[in-house]
Amino acid sequence: MDFDALINKLDLPTKIRLLTGADMWSLTPLPEIGLDRLVMSDGPIGVRGEQWSSADPSIALPSPTALAATWDLDLVRQVGRLLAQEARRKGVHVLLAPTINLHRSPLGGRHFECYSEDVHLTGEIGAAYVEGVQDGGVATTPKHFVANDFETDRFTVNVKVTDKVLREVYLRPFERVVQAGAWGLMSAYNSVNGTTMTEHSDLVNGVLKDEWGFDGCVVSDWTAVRSTEATALGGTDVAMPGPHGPWGEKLEAAVREGRVPESAVDDKVRRILRLAHRTGALGGAERAEQAEIDGIALAREVAARSFTLLKNSGDLLPLTGVRTLALIGSAAAEARIMGGGSAQVFPDRVVSPLDGLREYGGAEVRYALGTDPRLKLAPIAEPARALFLDAGGELLAEHELPNSEARWVGQAPADVDVERLAAVEIRATCTAEVAGEHQFAISGVGRFTLTVDGTTVFDDTIAPAGDDPAVAFLHAPEKRFPVTLAEGQRVEVTLRQHSVASFNGMVLIMFVLGHANPTLGEDELLAEAAELAAASDVAVVVASTTLEVESEGFDRKSLALPGRQDELISAVARANPRTVVVVNAGSPVEMPWLDEVAAVLLTWFPGQEAGGALADVLYGEAEPGGRLPTTWPVRLADCPVVDVTPVDGAVPYEEGEYIGYRAWARHAVPPAFWFGHGLGYTSWSYDAIDAGNGSVTVSVTNTGSRRGREVVQVYLAAPGGDPRLAGFDVVEAGPGESVVTTVFLPERAVQEWDGSAWRAVPGEYTVTAGRSYADRPLTASLTV
Ligand code: BGC
Repeated sequence: MDFDALINKLDLPTKIRLLTGADMWSLTPLPEIGLDRLVMSDGPIGVRGEQWSSADPSIALPSPTALAATWDLDLVRQVGRLLAQEARRKGVHVLLAPTINLHRSPLGGRHFECYSEDVHLTGEIGAAYVEGVQDGGVATTPKHFVANDFETDRFTVNVKVTDKVLREVYLRPFERVVQAGAWGLMSAYNSVNGTTMTEHSDLVNGVLKDEWGFDGCVVSDWTAVRSTEATALGGTDVAMPGPHGPWGEKLEAAVREGRVPESAVDDKVRRILRLAHRTGALGGAERAEQAEIDGIALAREVAARSFTLLKNSGDLLPLTGVRTLALIGSAAAEARIMGGGSAQVFPDRVVSPLDGLREYGGAEVRYALGTDPRLKLAPIAEPARALFLDAGGELLAEHELPNSEARWVGQAPADVDVERLAAVEIRATCTAEVAGEHQFAISGVGRFTLTVDGTTVFDDTIAPAGDDPAVAFLHAPEKRFPVTLAEGQRVEVTLRQHSVASFNGMVLIMFVLGHANPTLGEDELLAEAAELAAASDVAVVVASTTLEVESEGFDRKSLALPGRQDELISAVARANPRTVVVVNAGSPVEMPWLDEVAAVLLTWFPGQEAGGALADVLYGEAEPGGRLPTTWPVRLADCPVVDVTPVDGAVPYEEGEYIGYRAWARHAVPPAFWFGHGLGYTSWSYDAIDAGNGSVTVSVTNTGSRRGREVVQVYLAAPGGDPRLAGFDVVEAGPGESVVTTVFLPERAVQEWDGSAWRAVPGEYTVTAGRSYADRPLTASLTV
C-alpha cells in the first residue's frame, strides 16, 4: 500500500489528530483515506475490549508466569491465536501485550504479568505470543519498553543501569520480539538513566527503530506522554489515551514554528497506517482462514500444562483410592484467577477448585473455609439494579446487574446521557442465610450514601488512598458497617455514589456494595478445617495471595501468604499427613510449612478454568507440565535482589546482570526451588549430549510407567562464566521410550555487548543439559 500517497491527502491538523487517542482505547477514523477506527485493548491473559466489565466477557487464560511455566512455544502460539480470535470478535485491532519486563525482584507488583527472570525464556515466550496473535491478524505491543520491572513511583522513577546490562539483559527480550516481527511496542512510564522513556530518543529512535529496524508503531503507556516536543522527537508515535493530551494544538504549533519537523509527524502517521493496514483497519489485510479455537478447552489445557509440582513425597499425587477429600481455603471456593490492574478481564464463567473437584467426582469433596485472607467483602451475589440519575435525581436509565458491583470504565451504558449523569445508585436485595451480625461494605472513592431497609447507615465522602489513578480506583478503600439480621430476613440495600468521576474525559464508575454473612471466629474456623482434614482420606488446602498483594500500581512488601494461611496449612498438615497444598499465586510466596506437607502444587493465577484443570492434575488425567520460570526463595530475606524502593527518585540496578539464578548461584543462601524445577508423574534419564555447529542434541528416556512430558533445558557457560539458559524443548514419550531433541543456540548466547557492538566471545564453552538449573546431568563442550 502506498502510505505516502495517503499521507499527502491529509493536512497537518488531521495528521496530528490521528496521533492522540480519540478516546480511552481508539484512534480517530479517517474515512477520507479509508482508515477505520483503530481499537486497542489490554491483555495479556485475554482481550478485555472497550468495556471494563462483565457486560463484555472475555476468555481469561492463566497468568503470564503460568504461560512461561509451560516452556512450550507451540502452546503459546496457540494461545496467541485464541487471543486474536477474541480480539476480532470484539473489534479490537491491537492487543496491549505481552508484558516482557523481567523478574528482577520478587517484590515487583506486576511480577505475575511478566514471564521470567531469564532473558532467553522471556524472549522466546514473548516471541511465540507475538507470532500467534499476529498470525490471527491482530497486532501486539510488547511492553513496557524498557526497565519497567517494578511499580513504586512508576510514573517518575529513574532506573540507573549500565549500557552493557541494558543491552544484554533488559533490552534482549525486546530485541527478540522485534525480530519476531512485532507490529507495535509500548513505551514505559519510567525513566532510564535520566530520560523518561516516551522521550528516550537514544533507545527508541536509535536502538529500536534504527538499529533493530523496527517498522511498527510505538504506543505510549496510558498518560505517559507528558511533554510536547521531547516526546514527539523522542520516537513515541501515538499518545494514549485521548482526546486530550500534550500533543494536539501544541504539537501543531511546534511544527509550524519549526521546533518539530513535519517529517517526524509523517513518520508517525506512516507507522499508524502500516499498523492499521496490517490489522485490517485500512484496507482488508490478507489472512489465512483459521479453524475456530475452543477457548474454554484451551484455558483448561494451558492451566494444567502450567501447574508446577514442586514437591510430591511418597508419590501422593496423582490421587488414587481416595474416598473423602477435605478441600480447604477461601480460594478453593473462590479461585484467584488473575492478578490486579489493567491485566484484568471479565470471563463469563469461573470454575473454582470446589466446582471443578465436585464435578470431576473422584471423591466425596467436603469443604471448609479455614481462614479468609481477603481484605474486602464480595458483592451481594444476587441480581441487582443500577440507576443512572441526573443532578435533580431524575432517572436517566436503569440496568440489571448480576451482582452489586458497579463498573463502567471509559464508557457509560449506551442509553445514559453522560452530559446529564450526576449519580449512580445500586439497589440490591440481601437475604440473610443465617441470623447474626452481617457486614455491609462500601468500596469506592467519592461521596456515598448507604441505606439498609430505608435507614441511612453512611452518608459521607471516601477519599482515595493515593494519587496513582490505577491504585485509587482499582484499590479503593473499603468501609464496613455491621447490621444485625434475623435468619431469612430480606433487606433492601441501596448505595448511591453522588458524583461520577472522569479521567481524561472518560467515565469512571467503579464501586462495590459488599456483604458478608456472620462467620465463626477465626480460631473456630481453623479448628473446623483441621477436624475436617483429620476425618478425610486426603486434605487439599488452596492458599492464595489477594488482590491487595499482587497488582499493578504498587509493589509487594512481603512474600508471606496473607492472613493466617500459614497457620491453617500447618494445622491441617498436623491433622492429616496426606496434605496437598495448592499455591494459587502469580509470583513467589514463602512456604514455611514446606517440610510439613506431602505435596505442593503451584497453580499460579490459573485463569477461568482453574478448577477443571486442578481436578485433571490431582487425579492424573493430566500431568502437571510446569517448570519454574523463576527461582523461588525460602524467605524474602534470602533473596539476592529485592530492591524496588527509589532513593532520591532512582533505583540503581547495582546487581548488573546478576538477577535470578545468575544471582542465586553466587549467593551464600540457597533458594527453596531453582529455576527450571518442576516434577511430572513419570521419571526421566538423561542419556547423551552432543554439541556443535550452533546446536545441541540431547537424548532422554522416559524411565517411569506412564506417558509424560519433559522440558529439556540446555545451558551454556562461556569460558570462566556461569551457566545460562540457551535453549529448551518440550519432549514427550511413552514408558521406556527415548527421544532425541536438537536445540538451536541463538547467536546472542555466545556474544557480549562490547560498548558499541555485539562481539562473539571466543573459547571453550561448557554445555550442560538437564531438568533444572540445579540438575544438569549431561555435559559437553563447544568451541567458539
Ligand atoms: C498499564 C499498561 C496498560 C495501560 C492501559 C497502564 O496503566 O501500565 O500496561 O496497557 O494502562 O490499560
